[in-house]
Amino acid sequence: MWKVQLFELNYDERETRAVSEVLESRWLTMGQRTRDFESAFEEFLGAGQCTAVSSATGALHMALLALGIGPGDEVIVPALTFVADINVVKMVGAEPILADCESLNLWNIDVHDVERRITNRTKAVLCVHYAGYSCRMDELTALCERHGLRLIEDAAHAPGARYGQAALGTIGDIGCFSFFTNKNLSVGEGGMLSTGDEGLHARFRSLRSHGMTSLTLDRHEGRAISYDVLEPGLNYRIDEIRAALGLVQLDKLPEGNRRRGELMKLYQRRLEPVDGVTWPFDGYSAGANSFHICPVLLDSGIDRDAILMALKERGVQASIHYPAFGGFAAYPHLDTSDTPIAEQISQRELTLPLFPTMGDAAVEIVCDALTACLEEARELKTAAG
Ligand SMILES: Cc1ncc(COP(=O)(O)O)c(C=O)c1O
Repeated sequence: MWKVQLFELNYDERETRAVSEVLESRWLTMGQRTRDFESAFEEFLGAGQCTAVSSATGALHMALLALGIGPGDEVIVPALTFVADINVVKMVGAEPILADCESLNLWNIDVHDVERRITNRTKAVLCVHYAGYSCRMDELTALCERHGLRLIEDAAHAPGARYGQAALGTIGDIGCFSFFTNKNLSVGEGGMLSTGDEGLHARFRSLRSHGMTSLTLDRHEGRAISYDVLEPGLNYRIDEIRAALGLVQLDKLPEGNRRRGELMKLYQRRLEPVDGVTWPFDGYSAGANSFHICPVLLDSGIDRDAILMALKERGVQASIHYPAFGGFAAYPHLDTSDTPIAEQISQRELTLPLFPTMGDAAVEIVCDALTACLEEARELKTAAG
Protein backbone atom coordinates (compact mmCIF):
# COMPACT_ATOMS: atom_id res chain seq x y z
CA MET A 1 0.00 0.00 0.00
CA TRP A 2 2.81 2.44 0.86
CA LYS A 3 5.75 3.54 -1.27
CA VAL A 4 7.32 4.83 1.93
CA GLN A 5 6.09 3.79 5.37
CA LEU A 6 6.38 6.03 8.40
CA PHE A 7 8.53 3.42 10.11
CA GLU A 8 10.08 0.04 9.35
CA LEU A 9 11.74 -2.35 11.77
CA ASN A 10 15.52 -2.58 11.74
CA TYR A 11 15.39 -6.38 12.18
CA ASP A 12 17.40 -9.16 10.54
CA GLU A 13 18.51 -12.71 11.31
CA ARG A 14 20.09 -11.56 14.60
CA GLU A 15 16.65 -10.87 16.12
CA THR A 16 15.32 -14.15 14.70
CA ARG A 17 18.23 -16.04 16.25
CA ALA A 18 17.82 -14.27 19.61
CA VAL A 19 14.13 -15.23 19.78
CA SER A 20 14.87 -18.82 18.70
CA GLU A 21 17.45 -19.14 21.47
CA VAL A 22 14.88 -18.07 24.06
CA LEU A 23 12.33 -20.53 22.71
CA GLU A 24 14.92 -23.29 22.77
CA SER A 25 15.86 -22.42 26.36
CA ARG A 26 12.27 -23.26 27.45
CA TRP A 27 12.23 -20.23 29.81
CA LEU A 28 10.03 -17.26 28.87
CA THR A 29 9.38 -15.13 31.94
CA MET A 30 11.98 -12.73 33.41
CA GLY A 31 15.35 -14.45 33.79
CA GLN A 32 19.01 -14.04 32.84
CA ARG A 33 18.34 -12.23 29.55
CA THR A 34 16.27 -9.61 31.35
CA ARG A 35 19.12 -9.07 33.82
CA ASP A 36 21.61 -8.89 30.94
CA PHE A 37 19.42 -6.36 29.14
CA GLU A 38 19.19 -4.21 32.27
CA SER A 39 22.98 -4.36 32.82
CA ALA A 40 23.69 -3.58 29.16
CA PHE A 41 21.29 -0.62 29.25
CA GLU A 42 22.92 0.66 32.47
CA GLU A 43 26.30 0.48 30.79
CA PHE A 44 24.90 2.21 27.69
CA LEU A 45 23.50 5.07 29.80
CA GLY A 46 26.65 5.26 31.93
CA ALA A 47 24.73 6.12 35.10
CA GLY A 48 21.91 4.85 37.29
CA GLN A 49 20.30 1.47 37.79
CA CYS A 50 17.77 0.04 35.35
CA THR A 51 14.55 -1.95 35.66
CA ALA A 52 13.10 -3.44 32.48
CA VAL A 53 9.31 -3.26 32.24
CA SER A 54 6.49 -3.99 29.82
CA SER A 55 6.10 -0.42 28.45
CA ALA A 56 7.05 3.21 29.02
CA THR A 57 3.49 3.80 30.19
CA GLY A 58 4.06 1.18 32.90
CA ALA A 59 7.39 2.85 33.71
CA LEU A 60 5.75 6.28 34.03
CA HIS A 61 2.94 4.84 36.17
CA MET A 62 5.46 3.16 38.48
CA ALA A 63 7.53 6.36 38.65
CA LEU A 64 4.53 8.30 39.98
CA LEU A 65 3.59 5.50 42.41
CA ALA A 66 7.16 5.22 43.71
CA LEU A 67 7.29 8.98 44.30
CA GLY A 68 4.06 8.73 46.30
CA ILE A 69 2.11 11.00 43.95
CA GLY A 70 -1.65 10.66 44.31
CA PRO A 71 -4.98 12.42 44.91
CA GLY A 72 -4.67 16.14 45.61
CA ASP A 73 -1.25 16.38 43.91
CA GLU A 74 -0.40 18.15 40.68
CA VAL A 75 2.18 17.12 38.09
CA ILE A 76 3.33 19.59 35.43
CA VAL A 77 3.36 17.94 32.00
CA PRO A 78 4.09 19.32 28.50
CA ALA A 79 1.01 20.28 26.49
CA LEU A 80 2.72 18.75 23.45
CA THR A 81 3.28 15.08 24.15
CA PHE A 82 1.78 11.61 23.93
CA VAL A 83 -1.39 11.06 25.96
CA ALA A 84 0.35 8.45 28.18
CA ASP A 85 1.95 11.32 30.10
CA ILE A 86 -1.39 12.72 31.26
CA ASN A 87 -3.14 9.34 31.48
CA VAL A 88 -0.70 8.07 34.11
CA VAL A 89 -1.10 11.22 36.20
CA LYS A 90 -4.89 10.73 36.13
CA MET A 91 -4.50 7.01 36.87
CA VAL A 92 -2.79 7.77 40.22
CA GLY A 93 -5.55 10.28 41.04
CA ALA A 94 -3.41 13.39 40.57
CA GLU A 95 -4.03 16.35 38.22
CA PRO A 96 -1.92 16.96 35.09
CA ILE A 97 -1.15 20.67 34.68
CA LEU A 98 -0.13 21.57 31.14
CA ALA A 99 2.86 23.78 30.42
CA ASP A 100 3.53 25.29 27.01
CA CYS A 101 6.38 24.79 24.55
CA GLU A 102 9.20 27.31 24.58
CA SER A 103 8.53 28.67 21.06
CA LEU A 104 7.41 27.67 17.58
CA ASN A 105 11.02 26.62 17.03
CA LEU A 106 11.82 25.02 20.42
CA TRP A 107 9.05 22.54 21.15
CA ASN A 108 10.18 21.24 24.53
CA ILE A 109 8.61 22.40 27.79
CA ASP A 110 9.20 26.09 28.61
CA VAL A 111 10.94 26.26 32.00
CA HIS A 112 9.47 29.73 32.75
CA ASP A 113 5.97 28.48 31.98
CA VAL A 114 6.59 25.48 34.27
CA GLU A 115 7.56 27.89 37.06
CA ARG A 116 4.42 29.99 36.54
CA ARG A 117 2.25 26.88 37.00
CA ILE A 118 3.77 25.69 40.29
CA THR A 119 1.32 25.72 43.22
CA ASN A 120 1.53 24.30 46.72
CA ARG A 121 0.02 21.08 45.31
CA THR A 122 2.73 20.56 42.68
CA LYS A 123 4.79 17.45 43.41
CA ALA A 124 6.67 16.76 40.19
CA VAL A 125 7.57 17.91 36.70
CA LEU A 126 7.38 15.36 33.89
CA CYS A 127 9.51 16.55 30.99
CA VAL A 128 9.62 14.98 27.52
CA HIS A 129 12.62 15.14 25.20
CA TYR A 130 10.57 15.64 22.04
CA ALA A 131 11.95 13.72 19.05
CA GLY A 132 15.16 13.17 21.04
CA TYR A 133 16.06 16.86 21.51
CA SER A 134 17.05 17.45 25.11
CA CYS A 135 15.01 19.73 27.35
CA ARG A 136 16.94 22.48 29.17
CA MET A 137 18.03 20.14 31.94
CA ASP A 138 20.20 22.55 33.97
CA GLU A 139 17.32 25.00 34.26
CA LEU A 140 14.75 22.27 34.95
CA THR A 141 16.81 20.55 37.66
CA ALA A 142 17.59 23.91 39.31
CA LEU A 143 13.89 24.84 39.23
CA CYS A 144 12.86 21.50 40.74
CA GLU A 145 15.49 21.79 43.47
CA ARG A 146 14.36 25.35 44.30
CA HIS A 147 10.74 24.26 44.69
CA GLY A 148 11.32 20.81 46.20
CA LEU A 149 9.83 19.01 43.17
CA ARG A 150 10.73 15.63 41.71
CA LEU A 151 11.79 15.49 38.07
CA ILE A 152 10.73 12.59 35.83
CA GLU A 153 12.21 12.41 32.34
CA ASP A 154 10.05 10.80 29.67
CA ALA A 155 12.91 9.61 27.47
CA ALA A 156 10.65 7.51 25.20
CA HIS A 157 12.15 9.30 22.18
CA ALA A 158 15.64 9.60 23.53
CA PRO A 159 17.68 6.41 23.98
CA GLY A 160 21.23 7.39 23.07
CA ALA A 161 20.54 11.14 23.22
CA ARG A 162 22.51 13.38 25.58
CA TYR A 163 22.48 16.67 27.41
CA GLY A 164 26.15 17.64 27.29
CA GLN A 165 27.84 14.37 28.25
CA ALA A 166 24.94 13.00 30.35
CA ALA A 167 22.57 10.45 28.84
CA LEU A 168 18.97 11.64 28.74
CA GLY A 169 16.94 9.67 31.23
CA THR A 170 19.73 9.81 33.86
CA ILE A 171 19.52 13.48 34.85
CA GLY A 172 16.20 13.73 36.71
CA ASP A 173 15.11 11.51 39.61
CA ILE A 174 13.73 8.90 37.19
CA GLY A 175 14.04 8.26 33.45
CA CYS A 176 11.45 6.28 31.47
CA PHE A 177 12.23 4.71 28.08
CA SER A 178 9.92 3.10 25.52
CA PHE A 179 10.74 0.11 23.34
CA PHE A 180 7.40 0.17 21.51
CA THR A 181 7.56 -1.11 17.96
CA ASN A 182 8.18 2.28 16.29
CA LYS A 183 10.84 3.44 18.75
CA ASN A 184 14.62 3.71 18.15
CA LEU A 185 15.05 0.51 20.17
CA SER A 186 12.16 -1.72 19.29
CA VAL A 187 10.93 -4.93 20.94
CA GLY A 188 7.20 -4.67 20.20
CA GLU A 189 6.13 -3.63 23.70
CA GLY A 190 8.66 -2.79 26.39
CA GLY A 191 10.23 -0.09 28.50
CA MET A 192 12.97 0.72 31.00
CA LEU A 193 13.18 2.71 34.22
CA SER A 194 16.46 4.33 35.19
CA THR A 195 17.27 5.92 38.53
CA GLY A 196 20.31 6.85 40.57
CA ASP A 197 18.34 6.43 43.81
CA GLU A 198 18.75 3.03 45.54
CA GLY A 199 15.39 3.35 47.30
CA LEU A 200 13.48 4.10 44.11
CA HIS A 201 15.26 1.27 42.33
CA ALA A 202 14.13 -1.17 45.03
CA ARG A 203 10.54 0.14 44.78
CA PHE A 204 10.58 -0.43 41.00
CA ARG A 205 11.69 -4.06 41.41
CA SER A 206 8.91 -4.57 43.93
CA LEU A 207 6.11 -2.67 42.12
CA ARG A 208 6.97 -4.39 38.82
CA SER A 209 6.13 -7.82 40.21
CA HIS A 210 3.20 -7.71 42.66
CA GLY A 211 5.33 -6.48 45.59
CA MET A 212 6.58 -10.07 45.88
CA THR A 213 9.88 -11.02 47.51
CA SER A 214 10.77 -13.69 44.93
CA LEU A 215 10.32 -14.33 41.23
CA THR A 216 9.17 -17.51 39.51
CA LEU A 217 12.80 -17.96 38.40
CA ASP A 218 14.05 -17.78 42.03
CA ARG A 219 11.69 -20.60 42.96
CA HIS A 220 12.57 -22.56 39.82
CA GLU A 221 16.26 -22.29 40.61
CA GLY A 222 15.71 -23.22 44.26
CA ARG A 223 16.61 -19.85 45.78
CA ALA A 224 13.15 -19.57 47.36
CA ILE A 225 10.28 -21.93 48.04
CA SER A 226 7.61 -19.29 48.58
CA TYR A 227 7.24 -15.52 48.79
CA ASP A 228 5.95 -12.70 50.89
CA VAL A 229 4.12 -9.66 49.49
CA LEU A 230 5.60 -6.50 50.98
CA GLU A 231 3.25 -4.00 49.32
CA PRO A 232 0.47 -3.98 46.74
CA GLY A 233 2.11 -4.11 43.34
CA LEU A 234 1.48 -4.67 39.65
CA ASN A 235 2.60 -6.93 36.86
CA TYR A 236 4.67 -4.69 34.60
CA ARG A 237 7.29 -7.36 33.85
CA ILE A 238 9.02 -7.71 30.52
CA ASP A 239 9.81 -11.27 29.30
CA GLU A 240 12.84 -13.10 27.97
CA ILE A 241 11.81 -12.86 24.32
CA ARG A 242 11.61 -9.10 24.44
CA ALA A 243 14.74 -8.80 26.59
CA ALA A 244 16.62 -10.87 23.99
CA LEU A 245 15.30 -8.59 21.21
CA GLY A 246 16.31 -5.61 23.34
CA LEU A 247 19.91 -6.82 23.62
CA VAL A 248 20.25 -7.09 19.84
CA GLN A 249 18.49 -3.78 19.25
CA LEU A 250 20.67 -2.02 21.84
CA ASP A 251 23.70 -3.19 19.92
CA LYS A 252 22.24 -1.64 16.76
CA LEU A 253 21.14 1.60 18.42
CA PRO A 254 24.24 3.81 17.98
CA GLU A 255 24.49 3.04 14.25
CA GLY A 256 20.69 3.39 13.90
CA ASN A 257 20.74 6.83 15.54
CA ARG A 258 23.70 7.88 13.35
CA ARG A 259 21.82 6.88 10.20
CA ARG A 260 18.69 8.69 11.40
CA GLY A 261 20.80 11.86 11.77
CA GLU A 262 22.19 11.42 8.27
CA LEU A 263 18.68 11.05 6.84
CA MET A 264 17.53 14.16 8.71
CA LYS A 265 20.35 16.17 7.09
CA LEU A 266 19.28 14.88 3.69
CA TYR A 267 15.65 15.85 4.39
CA GLN A 268 16.71 19.31 5.49
CA ARG A 269 18.84 19.86 2.38
CA ARG A 270 16.04 18.66 0.09
CA LEU A 271 13.25 20.66 1.75
CA GLU A 272 15.25 23.85 2.35
CA PRO A 273 14.05 25.57 -0.84
CA VAL A 274 10.44 24.37 -0.41
CA ASP A 275 7.95 27.06 0.68
CA GLY A 276 5.67 26.31 3.59
CA VAL A 277 7.93 24.00 5.63
CA THR A 278 10.19 24.85 8.59
CA TRP A 279 12.25 22.68 10.94
CA PRO A 280 11.83 22.69 14.68
CA PHE A 281 14.85 22.97 16.99
CA ASP A 282 16.68 24.88 14.25
CA GLY A 283 20.04 25.97 15.69
CA TYR A 284 19.38 24.25 19.06
CA SER A 285 22.06 21.88 20.20
CA ALA A 286 22.25 20.73 23.82
CA GLY A 287 23.97 17.41 23.09
CA ALA A 288 23.72 14.34 20.88
CA ASN A 289 20.24 13.69 19.46
CA SER A 290 18.52 10.36 18.85
CA PHE A 291 16.44 11.68 15.90
CA HIS A 292 13.41 9.61 16.89
CA ILE A 293 11.04 11.24 14.42
CA CYS A 294 11.21 13.72 11.55
CA PRO A 295 8.78 16.52 12.47
CA VAL A 296 8.20 19.60 10.32
CA LEU A 297 6.06 22.67 10.91
CA LEU A 298 3.80 23.72 8.05
CA ASP A 299 3.07 27.41 7.57
CA SER A 300 -0.14 28.62 9.17
CA GLY A 301 -2.93 28.63 6.61
CA ILE A 302 -1.87 25.26 5.16
CA ASP A 303 -4.44 22.53 5.85
CA ARG A 304 -2.18 19.96 7.52
CA ASP A 305 -4.78 17.19 7.49
CA ALA A 306 -5.38 17.70 3.75
CA ILE A 307 -1.61 17.40 3.17
CA LEU A 308 -1.57 14.17 5.20
CA MET A 309 -4.35 12.76 3.02
CA ALA A 310 -2.68 13.93 -0.20
CA LEU A 311 0.59 12.29 0.88
CA LYS A 312 -1.33 9.10 1.55
CA GLU A 313 -2.70 9.18 -1.98
CA ARG A 314 0.88 9.40 -3.24
CA GLY A 315 1.89 6.39 -1.17
CA VAL A 316 3.68 8.27 1.61
CA GLN A 317 2.66 7.59 5.19
CA ALA A 318 2.91 10.63 7.47
CA SER A 319 1.67 11.24 10.99
CA ILE A 320 1.02 13.83 13.73
CA HIS A 321 3.04 14.33 16.94
CA TYR A 322 0.81 15.22 18.73
CA PRO A 323 -2.92 15.97 18.53
CA ALA A 324 -3.99 18.44 21.27
CA PHE A 325 -5.34 16.76 24.43
CA GLY A 326 -8.49 18.93 24.47
CA GLY A 327 -9.67 17.17 21.31
CA PHE A 328 -9.86 13.80 23.11
CA ALA A 329 -13.23 12.77 24.53
CA ALA A 330 -11.56 11.92 27.86
CA TYR A 331 -10.04 15.38 28.34
CA PRO A 332 -12.48 18.12 27.26
CA HIS A 333 -11.29 20.29 30.18
CA LEU A 334 -7.64 20.17 29.06
CA ASP A 335 -8.10 23.14 26.81
CA THR A 336 -4.84 24.01 25.06
CA SER A 337 -5.88 27.63 24.50
CA ASP A 338 -3.92 28.27 27.69
CA THR A 339 -0.85 26.76 26.01
CA PRO A 340 -1.11 28.55 22.66
CA ILE A 341 2.24 27.51 21.22
CA ALA A 342 1.54 23.81 21.74
CA GLU A 343 -1.92 24.31 20.28
CA GLN A 344 -0.48 25.84 17.10
CA ILE A 345 2.11 23.10 16.77
CA SER A 346 -0.60 20.43 17.24
CA GLN A 347 -2.46 21.94 14.30
CA ARG A 348 0.54 22.48 12.02
CA GLU A 349 2.96 19.61 12.76
CA LEU A 350 3.57 16.87 10.21
CA THR A 351 5.79 13.84 10.86
CA LEU A 352 7.63 12.41 7.84
CA PRO A 353 8.95 8.84 7.54
CA LEU A 354 12.24 8.15 9.34
CA PHE A 355 13.89 4.85 10.21
CA PRO A 356 17.49 3.58 10.02
CA THR A 357 16.93 1.16 7.12
CA MET A 358 15.43 3.95 5.00
CA GLY A 359 17.36 4.58 1.78
CA ASP A 360 18.27 8.00 0.40
CA ALA A 361 15.90 7.32 -2.52
CA ALA A 362 12.96 7.03 -0.10
CA VAL A 363 13.75 10.52 1.26
CA GLU A 364 13.62 11.79 -2.33
CA ILE A 365 10.21 10.17 -2.83
CA VAL A 366 8.85 11.76 0.36
CA CYS A 367 10.26 15.20 -0.46
CA ASP A 368 8.96 15.12 -4.05
CA ALA A 369 5.52 14.06 -2.79
CA LEU A 370 5.42 16.75 -0.09
CA THR A 371 6.58 19.43 -2.54
CA ALA A 372 3.84 18.41 -5.00
CA CYS A 373 1.15 18.29 -2.28
CA LEU A 374 2.07 21.76 -1.02
CA GLU A 375 2.08 23.10 -4.60
CA GLU A 376 -1.37 21.59 -5.26
CA ALA A 377 -2.70 23.07 -2.01
CA ARG A 378 -1.41 26.51 -3.02
CA GLU A 379 -3.01 26.23 -6.48
CA LEU A 380 -6.36 25.19 -4.98
CA LYS A 381 -6.22 28.12 -2.57
CA THR A 382 -5.42 30.58 -5.36
CA ALA A 383 -8.25 29.15 -7.50
CA ALA A 384 -10.66 29.49 -4.56
CA GLY A 385 -9.77 33.18 -4.46
C1 LIG B 1 6.59 10.64 24.55
C2 LIG B 1 6.03 9.28 24.82
N1 LIG B 1 5.80 8.92 26.08
C3 LIG B 1 5.32 7.71 26.40
C4 LIG B 1 5.02 6.79 25.43
C5 LIG B 1 4.42 5.47 25.80
O1 LIG B 1 5.26 4.42 25.47
P1 LIG B 1 4.76 2.90 25.50
O2 LIG B 1 4.03 2.65 24.23
O3 LIG B 1 6.03 2.11 25.60
O4 LIG B 1 3.91 2.74 26.70
C6 LIG B 1 5.24 7.12 24.09
C7 LIG B 1 4.91 6.14 23.03
O5 LIG B 1 4.60 6.44 21.93
C8 LIG B 1 5.76 8.40 23.78
O6 LIG B 1 5.99 8.76 22.51
